[in-house]
Amino acid sequence: MDEKKEVLILAIESSCDETAAAVVKNGREVLSNIISSQIDLHTLYGGVVPEIASRKHIEKINQVIEAALDEADTSLEDIDAIGVTYGPGLVGALLVGVAEAKALAYAAKKPLVGVHHIEGHIAANFIEHKELEPPFFSLVVSGGHTHLVRVKDYGKFDIIGRTRDDAAGEAFDKVARAIGLGYPGGPKIDKVSKEGNPDAITFPRAHVADHPYDFSFSGVKSAVLNYINGCQMKGESYCQADIAASFQKAVTDVLVANAMHAVEEYGVDKFAIAGGVASNSALRSAMQKACEEKGVKFYYPSPVYCTDNAAMIGVAAYYEYRNGTRHGWDLNAVPNLKLGER
Ligand code: KG4
Ligand code: ZN
Repeated sequence: MDEKKEVLILAIESSCDETAAAVVKNGREVLSNIISSQIDLHTLYGGVVPEIASRKHIEKINQVIEAALDEADTSLEDIDAIGVTYGPGLVGALLVGVAEAKALAYAAKKPLVGVHHIEGHIAANFIEHKELEPPFFSLVVSGGHTHLVRVKDYGKFDIIGRTRDDAAGEAFDKVARAIGLGYPGGPKIDKVSKEGNPDAITFPRAHVADHPYDFSFSGVKSAVLNYINGCQMKGESYCQADIAASFQKAVTDVLVANAMHAVEEYGVDKFAIAGGVASNSALRSAMQKACEEKGVKFYYPSPVYCTDNAAMIGVAAYYEYRNGTRHGWDLNAVPNLKLGER
């Protein structure tokens, strides 16, 4: 491939509840990033309803892609490759993006590049940090995943630690529901925590025996539920902000502790966080402080690139494209796709 040529990727993301398309130039420059969120729709049900998500993706996908091409002031003919999230995620939701990407790539005779959703989250860090290059470490914290990852090279990963039960974002969402904050829980807990005392209640910090990099968040979630039940049984009121802040501290303490353990053991000098929970203000400042203390350069994406978007998929697709990854017309949605699998 001619290194000097400009490479334009049209990227599509539909793995959960955002229908998104973006155009990314040379892997680092976002020319457009269109996101149609279904949050309002799913709020009615207190969480994502897969059937509704798929239907809404079908309704929105064409206009989102058109808007992405328009805003980037380009057209399908000028695109070099089409990148699409093909897993992990909700199968029906993923299928909409995959089918659309295949149809466009076939019709316009463009290469098709399937992208792992988590690879996209990690790649979000490349957009605003032009100097960031592998190798580095990453903590991916989203609604469905909590992974501590060694990024060896573009598209090459070792998963060092993972959650044994709930993902970090899932715990935020469940606790938010329990204390009456509703869906989506993460941003609401983040906001209300600013009014609360993080040391008011001591919730458990779970460590998985003999697996220092793994996580478990079901215990802290149960502890919050027990605390609320206890208050209700005694007829006592509880402070929503104190619970939120104390819960948030318990989760971020474990995330930071495991991340710093890896920093020491692996001699890490660059650390990047990614995924929806990476926009959490307490996690960002705790990681920033811990990294500074250890002399590690700390990276995080702007909130719009933390939660699901197609720009991050375009960045990951660019590096996959450059590495020679091409998918055929048999590309399928893989709801439990493993990181690093082809
Ligand atoms: O990455 P993402 O958009 O979707 C998945 O791939 O799962 O992450 C969504 C998750 C949700 O659980 C949401 O509550 C959480 O990220 N989240 C946050 C914040 N913003 C989003 N969690 C904590 N604090 C936030 N500010
Ligand atoms: Zn995501």
